[in-house]
Amino acid sequence: MTGAEIGVIGGSGFYSLLDGMTDVAVTTPYGDPSDVIAVGEVGGRTVAFLPRHGRGHRHPAHTVNYRANLWALRSLGVRQVIAPAAVGSLRPELAAGTVVLPDQLVDRTSGRPQTYYDSGAAHVSFADPYCPAGRSAVLKAGADGGRPLVDGATMVVVQGPRFSTRAESRWFAAQGWSLVNMTGHPEAVLARELALCYTTIALVTDYDAGVDAASAVSQAEVFAVFERNIELVRDLVCRVIPTLPSTSARSCPCPAALDGLTLPFDLP
Ligand code: ADE
Repeated sequence: MTGAEIGVIGGSGFYSLLDGMTDVAVTTPYGDPSDVIAVGEVGGRTVAFLPRHGRGHRHPAHTVNYRANLWALRSLGVRQVIAPAAVGSLRPELAAGTVVLPDQLVDRTSGRPQTYYDSGAAHVSFADPYCPAGRSAVLKAGADGGRPLVDGATMVVVQGPRFSTRAESRWFAAQGWSLVNMTGHPEAVLARELALCYTTIALVTDYDAGVDAASAVSQAEVFAVFERNIELVRDLVCRVIPTLPSTSARSCPCPAALDGLTLPFDLP
């Protein structure tokens, strides 16, 4: 099997999701994706799994080739992307281990290539960065699995690789933002620019520096909490995949994201 309709971009703990997995090496006009893509089946659906940071976490968030990653998935036939990610919490009530479905993002990254459309007149709408149908499906899968998720949060995406200062973190919280992360942008907008459905599943791994006066965030803490909770997120992803609509049955606005725009090339 070399094609798939659903993509999962996540940590390497997701390999065990896939039955009958085949590694597919894909290259793109933007270079190589983070790693070879594992294609297999989950609950009777074809799924392509791409480790966002590559095997062994070779690519830190600010160096990930997001354009190649999304392009590669689309070229395999993927039209719906589920994107689990580790996030820091800016709210005391969102403790480590909480799973949140963000509904908004704020981009505080810099210098990352964040568009396919450097020529032509293609300005996508991005008011609602996540697929409404994907969000509903994940929320339902969480509730059906007996573990309701937190519905809605604004996630600020920082450039990294460093974590935020206490002042930055307090400022983010004062804006009303709830989560902080390093990978959510430009991943989300590039998915939209390829007319893909895109849904982030945010796993809280730590209180960001402004919430917890005593401690600072450490990489070790983030990785350890993510590993401890990977089973939970994997279970959620496995539950949601069979419930996603087939590519031709999508009724969300995502497939029409490029209607009426002048694209400088054909999509894969
Ligand atoms: N990813 C996980 N925790 C984070 C934090 N506190 N800041 C930025 N990215 C994160």
